[in-house]
Amino acid sequence: MRKTGKFSYKGVKMTDQEYLYLKKKILNMTGIDLNCYKSQQMRRRLDSFIESSTAHDIASYCQVLERDETHLKKLCDFLTINVTEFFRDDWAFNDLQKNIIPTLAKNTSHLNIWSAGCSNGSEVYSLAVLLNECEKKITYKIMGTDMDELSLERARNGGPYREDFIKSMPKYYLSRYLNCQGSDYWVKDELKRNTVFKRHNLLSDSFDKGFDLIVCRNVTIYFTEEAKEKLNQRFYESLRSNGILFIGATEFIMNPNKAGFNKIGTSFYQKMPFAVSANLR
Ligand SMILES: C[S@@+](CC[C@H](N)C(=O)[O-])C[C@H]1O[C@@H](n2cnc3c(N)ncnc32)[C@H](O)[C@@H]1O
Repeated sequence: MRKTGKFSYKGVKMTDQEYLYLKKKILNMTGIDLNCYKSQQMRRRLDSFIESSTAHDIASYCQVLERDETHLKKLCDFLTINVTEFFRDDWAFNDLQKNIIPTLAKNTSHLNIWSAGCSNGSEVYSLAVLLNECEKKITYKIMGTDMDELSLERARNGGPYREDFIKSMPKYYLSRYLNCQGSDYWVKDELKRNTVFKRHNLLSDSFDKGFDLIVCRNVTIYFTEEAKEKLNQRFYESLRSNGILFIGATEFIMNPNKAGFNKIGTSFYQKMPFAVSANLR
């Protein structure tokens, strides 16, 4: 391990050996496997994050992590980036309401939905609003999963959400489905009823099956191409035939047909009965 001899980490770039060491420590302490994240971006982000600590090199930073649980939590928050809001990319929720949900509900009266990487639940409750508002009366279950326990706690409680979380939510839904208390908003029980939240790591845990809709938005931005490809394959297996995968506004599946999907909208991919590769010899 390099000894910097400096008293601050300012402007320092970790060596390959230090990154290896740090990855191992982080995996042991948090279960987050940085091998699945793009290394250049991750190293740059980590260097600037460590700069804001009192550590002067990677070895002393790891000691801080070992003795200071608050700092370890801060690191987890930093690694997971849990920015979210209700009706994020409202045009996509519009597509969902006008086209996707009616298509899915055509031949069934129950929809099984998974929001993977759901953060504090804003996404789950936005979906729940649209399902409640669906013209055809349907029942539904939404499972929200994330690896960040703090975010999940807020999701389970249905709040509190600050005003900036609900700025894109149509006003008529706001008064119908949320209560305002002081400067915070809370989801009404009616919306919470059909949701369940669980801790789950998309890179290492097993996946449930039989979903009509899987929503995984703004989660894989820092994943390696290999990790993303594997994840899409696992989402394919978790969807029912003709089920739909809903991804983030800036994301796309490189070769959807090969992965077994038909692109049916800017952020929507429908599972085809057989992945093309499954038909090849
Ligand atoms: C930027 S937020 C996106 C939240 C929501 N999907 C949205 O688009 O508004 C990314 C979320 O993914 C979660 N996440 C990141 N890596 C994950 C993993 N390997 N397994 C499960 N969740 C993960 C983070 O904890 C964070 O809450």
